[in-house]
Amino acid sequence: MIRSLVRHNLRRSLSLVLRMITLSWSVRPWAVSGYFLGAILEITSFLTSIYATAKLGSLLAKYVTGAGTGSIWWWLWLDVIAAIGIGVAFWIMSWNKRLLYFQLVQWSTLQFHAALNRLDIPEFYEEDIRNMINKAQSGYSWQLANFSENTLELSYAILRFVATAAVVAQIAWWIIPIIALFLVPTLITESKLAKVQWFVWDDEGDDRHVLWKLSYLMSQVKNQMELRSSQTRQYVLDKIRVMNRTFYRKQEGKFNTVNRWLLPTKVLEVAGTATGSIILLRQFLQGVISLDRYFFLSGALLRIGSALNNIFGTLSRMQENLLFAENFFTIVDKQPQLIDKPHAPVLDIKGPPRIEFKNVSFTYPGQENPVFTNLSLVIEPGQHLAIVGENGAGKSTLIKLLLRFYTPDSGHILIDGQDLQDIAIESWYTHLATLFQQFNEYPFSIAENIEIARPAYNNDKQRMHQAAGFSNVDHFVRNYKHGWDTVLDNSFEKGVEPSGGQWQRVALARAFYRDANVLILDEPTAAIDARAEYDIFNNIFEQYQQRTAIIVSHRFSTVRKADHIVVIEHGAIVEQGSHRSLMKEKGIYYDLFSKQAEGYKE
Ligand SMILES: Nc1ncnc2c1ncn2[C@@H]1O[C@H](COP(=O)(O)OP(=O)(O)OP(=O)(O)O)[C@@H](O)[C@H]1O
Ligand SMILES: [Mg+2]
Repeated sequence: MIRSLVRHNLRRSLSLVLRMITLSWSVRPWAVSGYFLGAILEITSFLTSIYATAKLGSLLAKYVTGAGTGSIWWWLWLDVIAAIGIGVAFWIMSWNKRLLYFQLVQWSTLQFHAALNRLDIPEFYEEDIRNMINKAQSGYSWQLANFSENTLELSYAILRFVATAAVVAQIAWWIIPIIALFLVPTLITESKLAKVQWFVWDDEGDDRHVLWKLSYLMSQVKNQMELRSSQTRQYVLDKIRVMNRTFYRKQEGKFNTVNRWLLPTKVLEVAGTATGSIILLRQFLQGVISLDRYFFLSGALLRIGSALNNIFGTLSRMQENLLFAENFFTIVDKQPQLIDKPHAPVLDIKGPPRIEFKNVSFTYPGQENPVFTNLSLVIEPGQHLAIVGENGAGKSTLIKLLLRFYTPDSGHILIDGQDLQDIAIESWYTHLATLFQQFNEYPFSIAENIEIARPAYNNDKQRMHQAAGFSNVDHFVRNYKHGWDTVLDNSFEKGVEPSGGQWQRVALARAFYRDANVLILDEPTAAIDARAEYDIFNNIFEQYQQRTAIIVSHRFSTVRKADHIVVIEHGAIVEQGSHRSLMKEKGIYYDLFSKQAEGYKE
């Protein structure tokens, strides 16, 4: 059982190391070649150096006993040249190693974020994936690059060992297994050390996640305002302190348990080299080997000890890298599940399509109660549909389903008769412009914040101005010194801090810029002032005549202008129709509308 575990671990580690080498090669082949050229130079120089030193030693011994100096100066100069060779070799190696490091940092940073872009939306809520993301996030910018450095160092240590061993083995091959044997306990202990510490991450995954979220929250000025004024600063800080303490105490505990075994193994390491030295000296004294052989071998013996030590040391340092790399590659290799079926047809529509929810039932993964049971709804092409309902009724969920972020448990969502599950999803997104309740605030200029919506338009300024006009963004951009180039982040020189409603108007402009057949807006004007809201909705209802608009809103002044209104309650459509017909019905809509209207009266 233990043996199979070791074999399994070994195979996994080996495949990770191989992957790292191929990866390093593919991102910067010249740096890898340069490194190995340096390594070969170093190994040759260092073998030359111990050979020259041995020769020098034995010639000196002869000189003492009265023999001539012979070629003694020649060997000294060779030793000096070898030393220069070693210096130059290390310079070449570290230079190339650094170049590769920079390249890999870029690679892993990009791959990590690309992987986040590929993950299925529901996966972000899964505990083990979330833990993996957090772990990867803790070191994507350096840990993989470190791993690659360690892999290079390992290869070099092995090469160096093999070269020295080949020389030594010709005279005394038995020295090598003796030294290796004494190093094994160190390796085992150190690998265990890395593992126990790493797995604390899994035990404390939830806390790490909370910590990470709190840390992000604390770094944002908008959150700092609440933290200060509501006097929660200390509370949050204490939470961080306690969570960190738990985490590191646990790590410290695990570390201490394993670490005490490290001292005896370190003593054992010396035993191998010492045994070899004793045997060598005896052989010399017995006249089995000559003086220059003795010098050469004892020099090589010390080096072979350090070479082996290097191999084992690098291996144990790599343990943490290995665990990181395994986690990192799992995230990077993750293939999304909610993808297009093979040969999924492209949605072929010219104008706004007919959208139909047909008996759709849906439950969030891991939840017991369904949000929708047999929900049916038709949205005609060009219709302006408003969705109203209490918090938690399922309005945003309806939109998420329409975007195929989730798969219904049963039922179908049809776009012009084609099942949403069957089509190539990007071809659907092309026709959509969406604005979510929690929209994105990009740290870009206003123009870029809008034009990002459709890069294919190539920063079309005319369209941008039109979209900005639609959402009343132009009203406040006029006052900015840097106009459209103003960065929406106060910490930049050209930056400003937009108000909440201004941000929302920019996000709306982004949706308009897409110029899509179907406009989906979830609470688009919650932060926008009454006059701007009035203008914006007039724009939508007048200018978007030929296009579909799906608008979730709690404001009935807006909703009443829609062609069709749907009232959702507890995941079911309880009423639908025009404002006029719903008012006549005197049901829920009438009730909600009247309550809100009453609030405005004196
Ligand atoms: N990712 C999720 N995982 C599990 N449950 C969820 C998830 N997102 C939403 N829910 C639940 O689904 C139900 C419907 O939520 P939804 O966000 O659709 O409501 P809503 O009508 O948009 O409400 P609001 O007016 O507050 O925006 C709620 O009970 C909510 O708790
Ligand atoms: Mg919502």
